[in-house]
Amino acid sequence: MIVLGIESSCDDTSVGIFDSREGLLSNVVSSQIKLHEEWGGVYPELAAREHTKNITSVLDIALKEANKNIKDIDVISATITPGLIVSLVIGSSVAKTLSAVLDKPFVPVHHIEAHIFANFIEKKEDYPFIALVVSGGHTELYLVEEFGKYRLLGKTIDDAVGEAYDKVARILNLGFPGGPIIDKLAKKGTHSIHLPKPLSRKKSEHRFNFSFSGLKTAVLREVEKNKLCKPEDIACSFQETAVEILVEKTLDAVKTFNIKKIVVAGGVSANSRLRERLNEEAKKEGIEVDFPHLSLCTDNGAMVAFAGYKRFLKKQSGYSLLIETKAKIPLEKFEEYINSF
Ligand code: KG4
Ligand code: ZN
Repeated sequence: MIVLGIESSCDDTSVGIFDSREGLLSNVVSSQIKLHEEWGGVYPELAAREHTKNITSVLDIALKEANKNIKDIDVISATITPGLIVSLVIGSSVAKTLSAVLDKPFVPVHHIEAHIFANFIEKKEDYPFIALVVSGGHTELYLVEEFGKYRLLGKTIDDAVGEAYDKVARILNLGFPGGPIIDKLAKKGTHSIHLPKPLSRKKSEHRFNFSFSGLKTAVLREVEKNKLCKPEDIACSFQETAVEILVEKTLDAVKTFNIKKIVVAGGVSANSRLRERLNEEAKKEGIEVDFPHLSLCTDNGAMVAFAGYKRFLKKQSGYSLLIETKAKIPLEKFEEYINSF
């Protein structure tokens, strides 16, 4: 079975093609980073205009790289939530139109589910596991029992960790997106500045929630207070603190629920220090950790095609073209939502 996946939830226009026998055939990503750089973040109207401009050529290149014709595709999937609504509408409308015209099943995909299952495009799944979702818009911990069955353990009560990376990079005038830049710069610095770790109380019932807004504000205060502090030391101190928060809570979750596996997902899963520290700590406890291939950490169509494939297998049919694209549907409610049409 060959599945096409369209991703347009934020600022990347991407199409991936997954073959259940051959694996991933292509994954073409058109990034808008240069365009949004001057705003220091994603500007929604601009993102939508770029998706409209690029989507047909991205689709064309993905088909060519896969050496397939559009008529060879068996299932058409697209991210329908969560994300910027105008951006989501473009990708999902293209998918629904292709589905109607070609008379092929349409499968709606949840962006977070796609990020989590990007881990299994090339590896076998193994349940249950704790999923740590870390991206520009999300910081969440889930207990995953099977594909489609999720229990939310905790989430950020303010900024997402990727957003904090981007904001700290803006404070330090380093460019956008901040994550990869800070990751690199931190290697040259030392953890010499003490920064707060909010919501790290071990016993609290809300201990799986995250908060990164205070950490970002502490960085801002430090930069204003100490004009001579080195950007590399700030980057290193911020990264060490952010990573420790993620590692502590994830380890606490696996121990609390007696789970032996961690799966990391989303753009921040590319972070070198998070990979290092989580692997170190999990190894001590005899827990296995999966990170996606570096090319599959940030937004991409391949993860959408694979999640679309898994969802099609589960239902053994396509979904209604009347399913509405939404800015936000919680992952644990997604299946109920798409089955209600
Ligand atoms: O998953 P993603 O592409 O988009 C969302 O769904 O949000 O994640 C983008 C986020 C950005 O905030 C970016 O700064 C962050 O992932 N990111 C990183 C790294 N690479 C990307 N953060 C830390 N370290 C990295 N190496
Ligand atoms: Zn994402």
